[in-house]
Amino acid sequence: MSLDRCHLVTLPRVHDARGNLTFIEGGSHVDFEIRRVYYLYDVPGGAERGGHAHRDLQQLIIAMSGSFDVVLDDGNIRQRFHLNRSYLGLFVPEMIWREIDNFSSGSVCMVLASEHYDEADYFRDYEVFAAAVGDESTRST
Ligand code: TYD
Repeated sequence: MSLDRCHLVTLPRVHDARGNLTFIEGGSHVDFEIRRVYYLYDVPGGAERGGHAHRDLQQLIIAMSGSFDVVLDDGNIRQRFHLNRSYLGLFVPEMIWREIDNFSSGSVCMVLASEHYDEADYFRDYEVFAAAVGDESTRST
């Protein structure tokens, strides 16, 4: 899996004098079926979250409030995304390592996920992930 498949999704915005409204529709703004939603909040300053990759899971990560950085890594290339808009989602496919840091005070990170929580789907060791990516690219050449 390459970083090329990771991208920002601009979600619809309905703006009026009462404020902004953004919505997300399965099959329209996310290609996967949304099977789970979770969110990170009350994150202490300097904390780092993530530090894993998924075998099959796909996600859309949104800064619902405040800001944070998502570092994506496909085993070869690393790219840092700064998320600070409630109408932007970062699509992260399977087999991409992610780290989340630089949380602003009061920020909320919401994640739409394609699968229920399953610890067996995680790579939590970067070296194991990198080795699995290497095996995959060897097989496909
Ligand atoms: P973890 O995946 O380490 O969180 P992060 O991606 O933010 O670093 O999950 C932290 C704990 O929460 C871990 O014990 C698993 C549990 N958990 C669930 O029970 N359900 C979930 O949907 C998620 C994402 C985590």
